[in-house]
Amino acid sequence: MMWVPRNDWLPWIAPHAKGAEAGWRATIIQAMSAQCAINTAVYQSRRARLAAQLENGVAIVPTAPEQIRNRDAHYPYRYDSYFYYLTGFREPEAVLVVVGGEKPQHILFCREKNLEREIWDGYRYGPDAARETFAVDAAFCITELDARLPELLADRSAVHVHLGADAVWDARVLGWINTVRNRARSGVAAPNDIRDVRTLIDDMRLRKDEHEVALMRRAGDISGAAHRLAMQTTRPGATEYEIEAVLQHEFRRRGAQAPAYTPIVAGGANACVLHYVENNAALQDGDLLLIDAGCELDGYAADITRTFPVNGRFSGPQRAVYELVLAAQAAAIATVKPGARWNEPHDAAVKVLAQGFIDLKLLAGTLDGVLEQETYKQFYMHRTGHWLGLDVHDAGEYKTDGVWRELQSGMVLTVEPGCYIRPVPGVPEGFADIGVRIEDDALVTAKGCEILSDSAPKSVTDIEALMRNHHA
Ligand code: GLY
Ligand code: MN
Ligand code: MN
Repeated sequence: MMWVPRNDWLPWIAPHAKGAEAGWRATIIQAMSAQCAINTAVYQSRRARLAAQLENGVAIVPTAPEQIRNRDAHYPYRYDSYFYYLTGFREPEAVLVVVGGEKPQHILFCREKNLEREIWDGYRYGPDAARETFAVDAAFCITELDARLPELLADRSAVHVHLGADAVWDARVLGWINTVRNRARSGVAAPNDIRDVRTLIDDMRLRKDEHEVALMRRAGDISGAAHRLAMQTTRPGATEYEIEAVLQHEFRRRGAQAPAYTPIVAGGANACVLHYVENNAALQDGDLLLIDAGCELDGYAADITRTFPVNGRFSGPQRAVYELVLAAQAAAIATVKPGARWNEPHDAAVKVLAQGFIDLKLLAGTLDGVLEQETYKQFYMHRTGHWLGLDVHDAGEYKTDGVWRELQSGMVLTVEPGCYIRPVPGVPEGFADIGVRIEDDALVTAKGCEILSDSAPKSVTDIEALMRNHHA
């Protein structure tokens, strides 16, 4: 369903247009509505699926609060992923209430329309336009929440909320339940079961629908392009922050709203600090550069890591470690298909890495011994991936009933083995301070997987060719 501009938008566009001017005004509005088209059917169907799981219960899903950065300056606003997944609504100060039962109802609470505030802060829907645009059954001003919630909770068996995420919110929910309880003498029953709404939504979020897959493909393409440009821009003497700026510029230039997480741009030994985000060092000739960066597009994250030589040519030891990590990644990716268990990519990567560490004389002993004693963890200490979606470490359990989860088509996970060699005694000549990670985003398909991040080159040949062409 298309977004339809309402008359209360019109004052913003050529407010005094008359006669012929009204024509171009209509054209602008048409273009704006195409830009803002909200696929309401997608969100309606997700809400209906949630409602169907509630039985007689009610789900209450607030969006994220605005966060102050310092004094009166705010962090850029980011809506809550659960709330957004069910609404597509990006304004702060909003709550979705989904009422289950025979006649499910979807109710949005949002900021009031306020033309005075809009002069300062920009357009806000207000309940009337929000109801039409986001196709909810009813919409009310957020200030009506306390008055309306008790009546929505009356005679409901269970209430599903973000339990424990925010003490103030928890207290508010309990307040509404108590208000219903205080009316018990008039014959209303209060919910006596409080549940975590995330357990219901997590499983839905885990398998991406077509709308999500399309966005994640684009997020992968944009991020891949940014990695290519970073490779082309990197040279000895450049700084990590200069390359970070290239990535951020490319994300925004191609329409992504933000990085999905703080980019890691780590030259030389910095690559061995797993969460390095200072990004303030100069890049040295002869070092590698590890970049872990992905954009967020309409809420969806890409998460890509590439490692390449600052001067465009891998040294012998760098190449040996790089090829090993690439082989480990290939082995892991080969296991990604429906029916495989969550741990299979990790186990496959570890096996290749462990044998490689022995071959490179980083570790002594046999493969079985290294695997059993987990000595490989000296050089590979993290897991090989995580779910990816609206959150970079996305919602969803990794084990159910104590066993590793089975992969199903529509799930998206990262595959990101690495090798981080700190300068400890015994490390062979030329290997100290090498840090390599290669990370791609894999969508599980009917028979295997599709790599969403393959526009970022990763073979030695492709990387060296891209950098050579640029430096030539
Ligand atoms: N960029 C965060 C991660 O790779 O998990
Ligand atoms: Mn990751
Ligand atoms: Mn990453």
